[in-house]
This record gives sequence, C-alpha cells and structure tokens, in this order.
Amino acid sequence: MLLSQQQWLRQRLFVLGSLALGSLLYLVARVGTLNRLQPVCPIDSRLLPASMPGQISLQTLQHKQALRHELRRTNSTREQLRMHHLVQQLPRAIIIGVRKGGTRALLEMLNLHPAVVKASQEIHFFDNDKNYARGIDWYREKMPFSFPHQITIEKSPAYFITEEVPERIFKMNSSIKLLVIVREPTTRAVSDYTQVLEGKERKNKTYHKFEELAIDANTFEVNTKYKAVRTSIYTKHLERWLKFFPVEQFHIVDGDRLITDPLPEIKLVEHFLNLPSRVSQYNLYFNTTRGFFCLRFNFMFSKCLAGSKGRIHPDVDLSVKEKLWRFFHPFNQKFYQIIGRTFSWP
Ligand code: A3P
Repeated sequence: MLLSQQQWLRQRLFVLGSLALGSLLYLVARVGTLNRLQPVCPIDSRLLPASMPGQISLQTLQHKQALRHELRRTNSTREQLRMHHLVQQLPRAIIIGVRKGGTRALLEMLNLHPAVVKASQEIHFFDNDKNYARGIDWYREKMPFSFPHQITIEKSPAYFITEEVPERIFKMNSSIKLLVIVREPTTRAVSDYTQVLEGKERKNKTYHKFEELAIDANTFEVNTKYKAVRTSIYTKHLERWLKFFPVEQFHIVDGDRLITDPLPEIKLVEHFLNLPSRVSQYNLYFNTTRGFFCLRFNFMFSKCLAGSKGRIHPDVDLSVKEKLWRFFHPFNQKFYQIIGRTFSWP
C-alpha cells in the first residue's frame, strides 16, 4: 500500500515536472522567435535616454526589433506604425559599392544587428536623375519604418562609380558613414562579367568571351573602356569621393574575407558604426550545400542569400588574368595608401 502511494506520488511529480519543463520550453521558443513577440507594454517606457545606438541597451533594441517585425508581419497601416513611434528615417550609413563586391551579403549580415534596419531594395536615388529629381521626401518614403534610435542602411552599388553621387549625398548629410566593399579587382571584374553574361543568356543573346572584352584586340593591352575593368580601378572612384568626404568617413570592407570568414569583417563595421558588437558566430554559419555563410536570426529562422549570389565564374585565360593583375597593381598600391589597409591582391 505504502509502495503504491509512493509510486502515485512519483507519477504526480513526473507529470508536474513535465508540465513545468514544457512551459519553460514554450517560453524559450516565444522569446527565441523574436518576430512573434507581442508588444506587452508601451515600448517607450523601456527606452533609456540615449542619443546614439551604442548607448541603448541591447535588450531594448531587441524588443523594438521584435515589435517592428510584428507590426510588419500583421501588415499594420502607416498610421498604426506611426502610433508606435516608428518612423521612416534617412540612412545614417550607405553601402555605396562596389558592384559584385558582396554588397548584398554585407547589408544582410549587418541587418542581423538589432540596431540596424535595412532598406530591402536598391533605391538608386542619387545615381538616377529621374529619381533624384523626385526629391528627398521621395527618398525618405522609400525607407523602412524604424525606431528613432535605429540606424537605417541602404545599398546601391552604382553610387560608387557615378560621377554626381558624392556631391548629392554630401548635400543630404555631410557626416554620413560610407561603406565600400571590395574584392580582388580581377575577380570582381569576372564576377561582373558573369552577371551580365547570365542576363544575355536569359534573353538568348550572344555575348563575347571575357578575354575579348577585357583585352583590346588592336593593342593587346587591357581595355580600359570595358566597364567591368573601369569599375575595378577603385582608387580612381574613391579619389572623386574624397573631394567631398574625409577618408575617416569611409570604411572599406574586405569582400574576399566576407566570403570565407565574415564575422571579423562585420565586427569591424559594427565598430565603425559605433554599435555594440552584437552579431556573433551563432548568427553566421557555413552552409555546405550552399558553399557560403548563411544567416541565422534565431533557432527558428535562418536564410541563405539568393542563388544569384555566388555564381560559378567562367574559366579565364591565365595570360589575360596576369595582364589584368599587372594592370591593377599600381592602382591597388595607391588605394592601400589612401585607405590605410592592404589586401593580399597580386
Ligand atoms: P559571385 O557571384 O561572383 O560569387 P553583390 O551582392 O555586390 O552583387 O556581390 C555578389 C557577391 O557576393 C558574390 O559574387 C559572392 O561571392 C559574394 N558573397 C559574399 N558573401 C556571400 C554569401 N554569404 N552568400 C552568397 N554570396 C556571397
């Protein structure tokens, strides 16, 4: 009799323990899936008085990020968003280029930070005359809703090489932070070629080989009229920007390292943006199927970049590559001198 009572007690304890564990797991799941958190108390009451994102408690920012996701998920109206003090802010940092440098990966990885809000689309405000003529309010309207202490970042890689852009951005905000992500110039040129080639193939159009475009058929020298080559002369473009902005306002990201070991590069950007270090190894994991690092927001939600990122490049004649390496070499040296950082490019 005593034994069966003990068994009964043990069973009760087991059931109660299971219930407690289940509830705990459920709570963890709710907190883990930040985008499902409900706004339980007015968000402003959790705000610390701070003017820079670096001074806001990360917990506050995470709550705010969760609320933002929730409002977006439930298709809240603009009025509802404004009621929660969400605003459309001009970017405080822009990824200005370079095309095929890894601009999308950089933006997505920075967006893992709770203080960063990305503009999903390339806006092309400063490089497109028609858009620019629409005025700064049009630009602001294109920005995502965010909380005042968050940093909005947009990326339009064409900005880096477009003549008019530095002056236009300077007129908007002379103290804006500028991010440039670069890759070894010849690899970047081949990546650029691969993207255009894919577009032509999709339209059933014939296209020249990379070698024919990159080398002048008459002189056998590097064809500096070829856009993919010109874009890779980073120093020429940067020097135009330096007429408007001091070098301290730029941060150069190593796009080759962002592919193989992204976290240290992201940490450098967090520092440049005066943000507390928040993106961790947990957020960036290597996906062997994809062959690239992918993003983990929480244990429920992760994603890799689209298939258009990380294309297989065509084989390029070694003699052509060597010619390009020699061609870019002096420009690269100048670039290193200006930015105060060197890369192991040939
Ligand atoms: P390739 O397609 O040549 O490999 P952008 O976004 O500026 O167009 O740059 C595209 C490049 O980003 C790709 O070039 C790819 O190598 C690089 N990249 C960097 N990190 C990546 C990632 N985690 N996933 C996919 N592509 C990434």
